[in-house]
Amino acid sequence: MELILDSAVIAEVEEIAAWGVLDGVTTNPTLIRRSGGDFKRTVQRIAELCSGPISAEVTALDTEGMVAEGRDLKESLPDNVIIKVPCTAEGLAATSILAGEGIDVNMTLVFSVSQALLAAKAGAAYLSPFIGRLDDRGEDGMHLIAEIMQVWNHNPDLTCKVLAASIRSVEHVEASARLGAHAATIPYKVFKQLIEHELTDSGIESFLADWDAVKAEGRN
Ligand code: E4P
Repeated sequence: MELILDSAVIAEVEEIAAWGVLDGVTTNPTLIRRSGGDFKRTVQRIAELCSGPISAEVTALDTEGMVAEGRDLKESLPDNVIIKVPCTAEGLAATSILAGEGIDVNMTLVFSVSQALLAAKAGAAYLSPFIGRLDDRGEDGMHLIAEIMQVWNHNPDLTCKVLAASIRSVEHVEASARLGAHAATIPYKVFKQLIEHELTDSGIESFLADWDAVKAEGRN
């Protein structure tokens, strides 16, 4: 499963990229706003730090505008930048045009199996079902991932990658992996939690204490 960082903060991308496990980065207008940085400069720098797909989102709502923004982002930013397009009728048409030009699209704001199917049929390279936002309103986001993966398992012709998004917890990441999601985009805070385990910490402590004893006996 591809592990993607959901962030527009350069320092966060640098830190996680240094782990050697980062497959890509997703940004959105909210993350860009929070980062305080200039949109294109931020995406450019992220694309230099991580060679995997870096999602940059269009903001137009009409097909023509989305296609124009997508082409501009593709031309002005590094090759590994892919275009995030919202899951609307206009977004489907834009996706089909951009995909026809060889431009990879991440169809975002997917909340149902039917939207996922349409995104795949339009030619998106990734589709992003938002788990947390469904949970936030009392629905079961993981259930949507399970349903989409069930459809994908029965339809090998669907090659669009399912990118679990709006992740809130380590459990979301693990459940997405168990269900066979192709990728998960993970906020920085949760990414850091993926490596944490108290038994790892206490294990290191006891190994170090024993190694100190070995050294004290001159047996190192
Ligand atoms: C996905 O690409 C989005 O950037 C992201 O996962 C949205 O998550 P949120 O619901 O926490 O804003």
